[in-house]
Amino acid sequence: MIPYARPSIGDAEVAEAEACLRSGWLSTGPRAMRFERDLAAFLGVKHALGASSGTAALHLAVLAAGIGPGDEVITTPMTWVSTANVLLHAGARPVFVDVEPGTLNVDCARIEAAITPRTRALLPVHFAGQPCDEDALAAVAQEHGLKLIEDAAHALGASYRGTPIGRFGDATMFSFHPAKNLTTGEGGALVTDSDEIAARATRLRFHGIDQTAESRFGGRGAGAYDVVEAGFKYNFTDLQAALGLHQLARLDALNARRARLAEQYLEQLAQVPHVRPLERAPYDHVNAWHLMVVRLEVEALTATRFEVIAELKERGIAPGLHFVPLHLQTLYRPMVEDPSRLAVATDAFERILSLPLYPDMTDDDVSTVVDALADVLARRTRAGGAIAARRAGGGAA
Ligand SMILES: Cc1ncc(COP(=O)(O)O)c(C=O)c1O
Repeated sequence: MIPYARPSIGDAEVAEAEACLRSGWLSTGPRAMRFERDLAAFLGVKHALGASSGTAALHLAVLAAGIGPGDEVITTPMTWVSTANVLLHAGARPVFVDVEPGTLNVDCARIEAAITPRTRALLPVHFAGQPCDEDALAAVAQEHGLKLIEDAAHALGASYRGTPIGRFGDATMFSFHPAKNLTTGEGGALVTDSDEIAARATRLRFHGIDQTAESRFGGRGAGAYDVVEAGFKYNFTDLQAALGLHQLARLDALNARRARLAEQYLEQLAQVPHVRPLERAPYDHVNAWHLMVVRLEVEALTATRFEVIAELKERGIAPGLHFVPLHLQTLYRPMVEDPSRLAVATDAFERILSLPLYPDMTDDDVSTVVDALADVLARRTRAGGAIAARRAGGGAA
């Protein structure tokens, strides 16, 4: 089976994990601190805080940015459920704004219409590793006094007009889940230039214990601790860092391999009818190529997207599905006043699948996937399919 994602673990990661196990430091210790320093230096940010998962890091980011009960936060429906769940955990309400048809990133031109007096922040997601329009996001955030919290789970190593993703938001989250561009097993990080956000997130990350010099017990030394609010157990461990240190050292090479594989996909998919990759955003950027999302011209086919996925699985290829949009989930459906305003995301959901993309894939694997997809689609093209797709015009265009 060729899976949609697979971590690339080298000998250095294995050796470091073994050294960590033998060191006695399994929880947060010197390796975790070194990883945080390396990540901050890699991105050019002041603070990088490791966390037990990307979801945990985003929860910390939202709380440390001051989001709380009654607040509204504008986000995208085209994301993993953590993006909105952490807002509910903070007592806030996610407000979904539709995506652009070409990139499936949030449509910045539609954000302003969703702003109310309760809006406190924007929470964009760099879908599949392609950066959102940071200039447009910053302009709206500044104009309306909103915080910018970024879900960059897919975008480690991406950049926008020459600046790394991670430097734009008041706080930015990365995920180190095994499918991601850098993995620590499970894990994530919050990065920020704000001392205030970093201090609050540090406290919330470990039970709400104040570890600063000003804390009540700070001066007393060994063993004393002071709990100042009800925090979480979201700390990042040395065993996670053992993987992360070497994944980070290899990240540029891993991402370059992803980009090369993506180029091959784009070249080969151009010859296959009824499938379209995402479009390249018009501004200067570097895509982290976390996912190879494509859209089917379902009007031309006798198979649904689910059936195409099933038929690929029969041929030894396991595509992913990113994502079932949040406004179609039982939990979030009642929170959406007018689903017709999310028509682009709803339409995209019928068409999308994620083809395998991971650094250890071979060039031949790409051809195997494209040939299998071409074969499935050719067998499932309806009579007059091309005309039907043209007439439907748009969805996948
Ligand atoms: C867009 C997005 N946001 C948030 C997350 C959550 O990250 P994690 O799985 O590390 O908690 C993920 C990945 O799973 C994701 O794809």
